[in-house]
Amino acid sequence: MSDLILGIETSCDETAAAVVGGGREVLSSMVHSQIAEHAVYGGVVPEIAGRSHLRELTGIADRALAEAGVGLADLEAVAVTTRPGLIGSLLVGVSTAKGLAFGAGLPLVGVHHIEAHIHAATMECERAPYPCIALVVSGGHTALYRTESPLEHTLLASTLDDAAGEAFDKVAWLLGLAYPGGPAVSDLAREGRADAIAFPRYRARDGGAGFSFSGLKTAVLYHLRGQDALAPTPPPEEIPDRADVAASFEQAVVDSLVGETLSAARREGLETILVAGGVACNRRLREQMTRLGQEDGRTVIFPSPAYCTDNAVMIAGLGFELLRAGRTCGWDLDASPR
Ligand code: KG4
Ligand code: ZN
Repeated sequence: MSDLILGIETSCDETAAAVVGGGREVLSSMVHSQIAEHAVYGGVVPEIAGRSHLRELTGIADRALAEAGVGLADLEAVAVTTRPGLIGSLLVGVSTAKGLAFGAGLPLVGVHHIEAHIHAATMECERAPYPCIALVVSGGHTALYRTESPLEHTLLASTLDDAAGEAFDKVAWLLGLAYPGGPAVSDLAREGRADAIAFPRYRARDGGAGFSFSGLKTAVLYHLRGQDALAPTPPPEEIPDRADVAASFEQAVVDSLVGETLSAARREGLETILVAGGVACNRRLREQMTRLGQEDGRTVIFPSPAYCTDNAVMIAGLGFELLRAGRTCGWDLDASPR
């Protein structure tokens, strides 16, 4: 029997398809980014995203199969992201996956996007890293989980307001940087001093776990407007300490992420830390989580950058685990934004 899974991902602004064998061997991975279509608006426009997925997905899926040198008849199943994400975008993926699976007589597997991000961090590991702490930091999510296996996650803490990636995107906009903001802020931060401005770090009042980035974002706004909320945000060329703002903001986000993750690892008595999602590409986060984690006696695992941002390899990979656990879906499979 074949163990090949076609994975499909359309939850946000990447149209992706991949063929993975045995849950680990990547035969092909196609990602079509819509960044250029959304950049002029400074963020993802759901209507444009849905239409773009509709235009691109069948071509991307065909190319993933062709690159892997297989046809639909060679597959064991089709796996697709069903939640969470933009509902119009998810529906394009789910409907396409249903059509392909039904037409080829294959089982259909629905995959949770966040669980797939966590799974991506394990796919390059030589041995299973469980149990572990998983930090998911993306454009839409910032959360800590206790992870026992690819299919067992307990939520320990999440953000009270913005996701870390969202904070990067908003601060980038304030600094006059292009969308998506994370990489742009991070590049500018290289030229600045991380200790130049004392931006606030959120701590949960009862000493518990949690993240919050809206206060930090507001602190950046006040700093740029000279403490006058009604003043306009100055144009980029009139911000004298632009690189220092980027570096100090980035350091504040990294301090929160690293501090909360290490506390959770100590509290749960777990030696291994996985970091997943688009913000896991961040250079300062990778360096500091790895160094401080090691100093604390922990192993820190980051996926390679291509597996941090949205991709379909993680969908096919986790789809394989779900299939082996007998968790296939009926033709009434639906998408959900949450
Ligand atoms: O996981 P992802 O590709 O999509 C979601 O599921 O949200 O994450 C995208 C997010 C964006 O907010 C982007 O600005 C952020 O990840 N990001 C970064 C970096 N690269 C991407 N944030 C900080 N530093 C980076 N190098
Ligand atoms: Zn994602």
